[in-house]
Amino acid sequence: RPTFDLVVAANRLPVDKVVTETGETEWRRSPGGLVTAMESVMRAQPGAWVGWAGDAGDAPEPFEEDGIHLEPVPLSAAEVRDFYEGFSNDTLWPIYHDVIVPARFHRDWWASYQTVNRRFAEAVAEVAAPGATVWVQDYQLQLVPALVRELRPDVRIGWFDHIPFPPVELFAQLPWRAQLLEGLLGADFLGFQRQADARNFVRACRQLLGAATKGDRVAVDHERQVRAAAIPISVDFRGLEALAKRPDVRARAKEIRASLGDPKVLMLGVDRLDYTKGIRHRLKAYEELLLEGRISPPDVTFVQVATPSRERVEAYRLLRTEIEQTVGRINGDLGHIGAPAVHYLHHSYPREEMAALFQAADVMLVTPLRDGMNLVAKEYVTCRYDLGGALVLSEFTGAWHELHQSFACNPHDIEGLKQAILRAMNTPAKDKQRIMRALRRRVSDNDVQRWASRYLAALAAAPERPAPDR
Ligand code: G6P
Repeated sequence: RPTFDLVVAANRLPVDKVVTETGETEWRRSPGGLVTAMESVMRAQPGAWVGWAGDAGDAPEPFEEDGIHLEPVPLSAAEVRDFYEGFSNDTLWPIYHDVIVPARFHRDWWASYQTVNRRFAEAVAEVAAPGATVWVQDYQLQLVPALVRELRPDVRIGWFDHIPFPPVELFAQLPWRAQLLEGLLGADFLGFQRQADARNFVRACRQLLGAATKGDRVAVDHERQVRAAAIPISVDFRGLEALAKRPDVRARAKEIRASLGDPKVLMLGVDRLDYTKGIRHRLKAYEELLLEGRISPPDVTFVQVATPSRERVEAYRLLRTEIEQTVGRINGDLGHIGAPAVHYLHHSYPREEMAALFQAADVMLVTPLRDGMNLVAKEYVTCRYDLGGALVLSEFTGAWHELHQSFACNPHDIEGLKQAILRAMNTPAKDKQRIMRALRRRVSDNDVQRWASRYLAALAAAPERPAPDR
């Protein structure tokens, strides 16, 4: 069995196994920012990716895809329900996103989380070469660092948090808070999106475990120290920019505008259909602007792409109903024949189509209530090599900490959000170009390759172990 010097473990593989209606197996690109970022990192270097193929039952055999060695980990139907939909997305996800919806705690979900994390750790231990680097991703696998350390004391272990790390007051609600922290402290280095996230983690260790901390370091068993630092993730700037420059993609951008009736202002939202993304707030602001007559179709139109996500989790089902009712109401009240006020698309699209949409959009609305990073904001900026367009960006995203020249908004403040949208529409083109140039510089300076090399350098710089006795 082949082993690898670099092993990434993430809940999802970069591709999802889908069985079509005719019974054929198809592989489709998995949703979400984690996959977007990690896929371009892993295509550039040899390594293995351990993850779930997105369906219940036996795992497929290991295989190669785009030069990445994929090691599928099986989840049973009960584990999909308890580990994935339950503990990961109905317990941890709300707690880590400011409890926008209430978190649900179930002891059997926790049991399943432990079982599945152990399975991932065992799969990692099997494919890691002696002295390998193991890079664990995200909230679904927080016990994996300590479990891998037990199984394979020779490897170096890093973990990266793609989502926020909550303030200790919220984290403390978790009945299994100590076990989660101890799981993470099995790593040699922990990476976060924002400094605030890293600080929240260190504070949780101090207050909930009684660990000694100094600056960004947490002492573990008087033996070693684990560093927690911010290394914000990014996009493949060069690859995506090249895609956006392709003649077919540029032609498609024109075609999209034409099929919308060449509006003066095309607004765009692109999100997984998730309550963290502030889609409701965005629709509310847009509806009020229409009602007040400050904008009107067909001059202005709004395209909202809402990628299906976690559809069996109740909070997501409720959100979908609410959004679809709202879109229906806005179109019913304020649309015209041939000119709906909102174009709502509950699909996911290939990268080419997304790049065309980004180029077609005059105003990009990224308004989450809380978001670890939000790579859509960075993708939009990357595709605007023409320096056109304007980004309205929530202060509650990780991206805002790098892209604060954008048109900032607090999505809870509907009046403020409306003002930000109007400013993004009405600022003179020259000023918008200057802003876009600055935003693009930030993303191109910190692209995903740089993120990966900064992360791996920080992990390599962690002390050798076992650390000498003091
Ligand atoms: C976010 C998370 C990822 C997750 C993705 C899609 O980006 O950080 O870990 O994979 O959402 O969500 P899903 O539940 O479909 O994997």
